[in-house]
Amino acid sequence: MDMKQIPARSGNHNLQNYQQTYKNFNWDEVKGNFTWSKTGKVNIAYETIDKHAEDPSKKNQAALIYTSPDREEKLTFEELKKKSNQFANVLKKNDIEKGDRVFLFMHRSPEFYAAFLGILKTGAIAGPLFEAFMEQAVRDRLEDSEAKMLVTTPELIDRVPVDDLPHLEKIILVGGDESGSHISFEKEMKNASEEFEIEWLDLEDGMLLHYTSGSTGKPKGVYHVHNAMLQHYQTGKWVLDLKDDDVYWCTADPGWVTGTSYGIFAPWLNGVTNVVRGGRFSPDDWYGTIADQDVSVWYSAPTAFRKLLSAGAETAKKHDLSSLRHVLSVGEPLNPEVIAWGLEAFDLRIHDTWWMTETGAMLICNYPTMEMRPGSMGQPLPGIEASIVDNEGNELPANQMGNLAIKEGWPSMMRAVWNNPGKYESYFVNGWYVSGDSAYKDEDGYFWFQGRLDDVINTSGERVGPFEVESKLIEHEAVAEAGVIGKPDPERGEIIKAFITLREGYQKSDELLEDIRQFVKKGLSAHAAPREIEITDTIPKTRSGKIMRRLLKSWELGLPTGDTSTLEE
Ligand code: WT7
Repeated sequence: MDMKQIPARSGNHNLQNYQQTYKNFNWDEVKGNFTWSKTGKVNIAYETIDKHAEDPSKKNQAALIYTSPDREEKLTFEELKKKSNQFANVLKKNDIEKGDRVFLFMHRSPEFYAAFLGILKTGAIAGPLFEAFMEQAVRDRLEDSEAKMLVTTPELIDRVPVDDLPHLEKIILVGGDESGSHISFEKEMKNASEEFEIEWLDLEDGMLLHYTSGSTGKPKGVYHVHNAMLQHYQTGKWVLDLKDDDVYWCTADPGWVTGTSYGIFAPWLNGVTNVVRGGRFSPDDWYGTIADQDVSVWYSAPTAFRKLLSAGAETAKKHDLSSLRHVLSVGEPLNPEVIAWGLEAFDLRIHDTWWMTETGAMLICNYPTMEMRPGSMGQPLPGIEASIVDNEGNELPANQMGNLAIKEGWPSMMRAVWNNPGKYESYFVNGWYVSGDSAYKDEDGYFWFQGRLDDVINTSGERVGPFEVESKLIEHEAVAEAGVIGKPDPERGEIIKAFITLREGYQKSDELLEDIRQFVKKGLSAHAAPREIEITDTIPKTRSGKIMRRLLKSWELGLPTGDTSTLEE
């Protein structure tokens, strides 16, 4: 097959010639699908679960299929409605009100989803934290959000600095001792009513806080509101191509935005069965999940596809993957080589989609009904204006590289950076949201990703801020200074490489380097720990003291160093 262009195929929601069909598309048209149009009020938890539970033809359909090496469980829409109601009652009993922040720090499980939806039903703001976070990462997020309550497990509670968090009033433990000092999830759920009067909200009321990394400072709380449902719902149709009887699997953890927008909202707003897989990655388990659950629509990431690719065709052939109809990818550039592999392994195109934590939902995509150009992220959704702009926010002509930018005002756009209005403002230039990615647009309107413009590292599809890692590194007794960069890696996209200088009296040794690595891993999280650490004599800085990570990167890659006029002596 000609890999320059892969022909369109049919889809369930006609997007052929979508630019003509949807020329005058307005997001307001989508509002008619939700209670808002009738009552003026909404709640995304109602639209995802209760609405289907009230539909006699849907209430007994599996909403959630949870599968893992040691647990299998199915919950229908009706059961999930009841469980989330019970949890909402537990929260009410403990004085949770609209606008309070309730965080979840636990692995994926049926309890997680019931709790997450229960939080939204009370009108509180949910803050999911990735289970691999260690104490510093947990502390930063709970402190900044002033979370009032936390749902966690006995395995993870030691990483929560309970006594140092003045706003944290209560902790709910899932799977703990029912007589312990914290609230027992199981005990409270047993006593809670399955009826709950949902808190009806405005479209602009708070829903979700996702912490994400930038190149400077601590992670920032990206704040999303219920209005995002318009885009979650509609991209579920246009891009995920969902239809009523689909079995859908999104592999992302709900600690990251893909795992909420597309692991919770998009599938359930569209009433499809949602598969959640717990446990670690293994090619056989993943293929097995598709085969055993008859997954028809699958949303994953390049790093996973590359791992499956390297596991070999024989591994794939052991499993019956014929249920698959549609495959999508997000998080990092999707290599044409991986698309070629997908055509062979599944006889399907893998559709790249581009968006970010801050954008809340997909913006630039390959649709099922669109001709695909491997290596391109696709084209903007109807109702989305995307462009390439210079640093002043002026649009650039086709084929010129610049800032990938989106015209302000799409439905799922973040509404604030928590506690940090200045940071929020800094994203916008001349009416454009400037993404931090560089790209160009070809003559036909396809967008091509080029790289990050800031120093943010993308390792296995996860965003890591260099500043956070550097801050942790210099807490180690042997480290004087640190500069952290992303180094290209064939499987992980990038790996984290740290350059450090040692304090007086410390000598380089393999044990010391391993100790430093473990220190970051234990303090922050495994995915933030540098895979490579190099000891140098100095860390290059500007005269104003900013670490010149670009210079470190040029050194590492043997590239020209460019302008070094601001380098300190
Ligand atoms: C950054 C956002 C919301 C999706 C999960 C990641 C990179 C995302 C693509 C893509 C190339 C991509 C960008 C973006 N990215 N999708 N299709 N091709 N790069 O969300 O953690 O907020 O990261 O991921 O650099 O800015 P995130």
